[in-house]
Parts: sequence; C-alpha cells; structure tokens
Amino acid sequence: MLISIASVKGSPGVTSTALALAAMWPRPAVLLEADPSGGDLAYRCKAAHGGPVAANKGLLQLAAAVRGGLPGAGVVVDEAQLLACGVSLVQGVTRAGQARAFSALWPTIATACVDAEVDVIADLGRLDRASAVMPLAEHSTHLLTVAAATLESVMHLREDVQDLMGALAQVAAIPVCPVLVGPDARASRDRADLDQVLDDAGMAVWPTASVPFDPKALARLEQGESPSGRLGRTLLLRGAKALAASLGMVEVVPA
Ligand SMILES: Nc1ncnc2c1ncn2[C@@H]1O[C@H](COP(=O)(O)OP(=O)(O)OP(=O)(O)O)[C@@H](O)[C@H]1O
Ligand SMILES: [Mg+2]
Repeated sequence: MLISIASVKGSPGVTSTALALAAMWPRPAVLLEADPSGGDLAYRCKAAHGGPVAANKGLLQLAAAVRGGLPGAGVVVDEAQLLACGVSLVQGVTRAGQARAFSALWPTIATACVDAEVDVIADLGRLDRASAVMPLAEHSTHLLTVAAATLESVMHLREDVQDLMGALAQVAAIPVCPVLVGPDARASRDRADLDQVLDDAGMAVWPTASVPFDPKALARLEQGESPSGRLGRTLLLRGAKALAASLGMVEVVPA
C-alpha cells in the first residue's frame, strides 16, 4: 500500500505530517522522502544508534537499484534506516539536481513502493500535474493534500487540488484526503469550513482531516523520543493516529 502526502502551493507541514503519520502507522511502514526538491529528515532526526542518518542509504540508492528494472520486492525496505523515534526512513536526495537525474525512474519507483512488503508513506513535497513524482500519486491508495489552516492556503488548496484531481482522473480514481495543519482548538471549525468550500466547488474529496500544530511534540519526535510512551499522548501524535484511522487503518492488536 502506498500513501502519498503532498502540498499545493507550498503550504508547510508535509514532511512533519508524514513523519508523525509514519510514527503512528499501525502496520509496518517505511517513510519515503520523495520530494524532488530534497529531503529534510536526515538533518532533523537522529538515527536509532544515536548518531546522524547514514548517507549511504536512501532514495538515490533506491533509484540506482531500480535502474535496470525491479530487482525484487525488498528494494524499498533495503534502502530504509531506522530513526531513533522508531520510524523507518528512506531519506530523500540532498539537492534537486540529484532527483532530476533520475526523473524517468519515478514510475518504476512507484511500482516498487506498491510491491513493497510494508506500507510506504511517501512525502511528495509540493505537487502539481507537471511534477516528476506524479507516478507516485497515481499509484497511491490515498493522496493526502496538506494545507495550513489559513484562508489563503485553503483557497489555493481548492484551486490546485481541483487541477490535480483532473490530471489524476485520467489515470485512476485516487481518493484525495485534505489535511489541515493548524491550532487544535479551532480544528473542527476549520475542517467544517474546508469541507463546505470543497463541497460548494463540487469536489468529491474525503472529509477533511486535521493535524494539530504542536511544535514541542514535533521536536521531541525529531530528537528521537518513541511515540509508544508519553509522546504518543500529545496532540500531534494523537492527531496522526486519528489521521491513520480516518484512512481506514486499524490498529493490529497482537493475539
Ligand atoms: N504539525 C506541526 N506542528 C508543529 N510545527 C509544525 C507542524 N507542521 C509543520 N510545522 C513547522 O513548520 C516547519 C515546516 O514544516 P515541514 O517541513 O513539515 O513543511 P513542508 O511542507 O515539508 O516544507 P518544505 O516545502 O520545506 O518541504 C517545520 O519545521 C515545523 O517547524
Ligand atoms: Mg518537506
């Protein structure tokens, strides 16, 4: 299963939402930093051994591995490394030029994600119909479109998601789930407002979800605290858990 997360017109929050969602995902998962403009998490997070994220595994190596066709179902997992917070990360490229060099490989990378033994949560960065990573969106079980809970961001979301849905509809019916990042106290009102805006525009999208703006919890996650302890009770992580549940993911309770 491939879940894609993207923004339209650069609303901040995609990478943080993807990290929190991966941390609370109820099934084995890999977080793939597919943003062609470059990844951030290697700089923001620690590896499980306490040191920096190693440079010899990641998207660049994944692209090299699939260059001659798909080598096997384990290829995505092979390029992942464990972060201190417990998330398994395929780190992104360090600069946009690296991703341009393998832009023809995105359809194969998308197939590798769909075929992976674990769920893949992919951060596509800012997405429009001309983006090189559209094959990932087209192969997704869900496309989450993240926006800040501000009027201008919501208005751009309406316009840009409509265009994106038009492009996606030519390939497959991919469920689009709007996600608002904003203050928790206003979240239900913000969700209802966006649902109304999208409904008025005649857009058939999933009900809006929200992820609380919670800088302290985000910093703790990035610094390597496990979400299975007290961090899991923060607004951010509870929001991420609810987001996973809203996508139909149910927690697997061990027998
Ligand atoms: N839910 C959140 N709670 C607290 N802070 C957040 C949250 N989401 C985003 N931020 C803040 O906004 C900054 C940018 O967020 P993030 O890196 O997730 O955005 P992005 O859309 O991936 O941006 P870019 O275009 O740089 O890839 C983060 O470093 C963090 O400070
Ligand atoms: Mg990002």
